[in-house]
Amino acid sequence: MTTKIILDTDPGIDDAMAILFAEASPEIELVGLTCVFGNADIDTSTRNALYLKERFGFQCDVAKGASQPLERPPVGASVAVHGENGFGDVAITEPTISADPRPAHQYIIDSVKAAPGEITLVAVGPLTNLALALQQAPEITDLVKEVVIMGGAFGTHDHTGNVTPFAEANVHDDPHAADIVFTAAWPVTVVGLDVTHEAFFSNDYIDTLRDTCGEVGEFIWDISRFYLDFYKARMGVDGCFVHDPSAIAYVIDPSLFEVRKGPIRVVCDGPAEGLTLQKHKDTKHKTDDWADKPAQSVAVKVNDQALLDLYLDTMSRFG
Ligand code: BDR
Ligand code: CA
Repeated sequence: MTTKIILDTDPGIDDAMAILFAEASPEIELVGLTCVFGNADIDTSTRNALYLKERFGFQCDVAKGASQPLERPPVGASVAVHGENGFGDVAITEPTISADPRPAHQYIIDSVKAAPGEITLVAVGPLTNLALALQQAPEITDLVKEVVIMGGAFGTHDHTGNVTPFAEANVHDDPHAADIVFTAAWPVTVVGLDVTHEAFFSNDYIDTLRDTCGEVGEFIWDISRFYLDFYKARMGVDGCFVHDPSAIAYVIDPSLFEVRKGPIRVVCDGPAEGLTLQKHKDTKHKTDDWADKPAQSVAVKVNDQALLDLYLDTMSRFG
């Protein structure tokens, strides 16, 4: 049975890797791409989603979402990582198709209500669209099948942050939204840096994608040149971590991951802004802002070789 997903995204180079993975997978029906600011501004991220839809012939809807965080001042686009155009400054043509007229959060609400219990929300950007959907229609918590999020860092394997020493970019971009989404009464699985920094696409692996996955593989290779230069300059490595595609891998095969249960909160201001904390021990305290929140799942271990094999095998369907 296929899983219907709405993929909330800020494309973005690794977002494109994830979107194309979802489109390729026979286990997934990609219902919609909902766009959010993050790696690029909202017009650019929506344009990039429409570009992918038109160029590679997706059937899914595309909806434009939030242009800024709920409360904090905007951090600004991740130009150093994803380029000015979000796709590593590879020239792309303007799409001739348009987005759904509804804002992304309304699209999410309408879609979930139209198919109760069927839709998994997968979010690989700042969580603003999901938080807006929850604020406007809290009843969707009972109607969504599952929520899978690439974001956060809980310190497993010493992975504590990327954009700051103690915050992951998607959560840091809108910590208030992340706290709303993590503490809502729906089943959330977080695929954060704890596991995405444990899986690595080497330059050789991306060369293999180019050589075996047709036009899609060539496109991923082209847009990832800029991204790989960033990784080389910043971390001295020949390749990149597997962020957004890991969330799709979880939807396809959760057995690739080991999870830990417990409520999650987000630090919303100060130097630790964007820090994610899971209370995974059953301890008692006089003050406990985790105590009445639902237990969510945090991925703490990944079978990285199996994940890499799954990605290549799935993407080779484009070959
Ligand atoms: C996350 O931040 C973005 O730059 C990536 O697309 C990914 O979603 C990794 O921290
Ligand atoms: Ca992303």
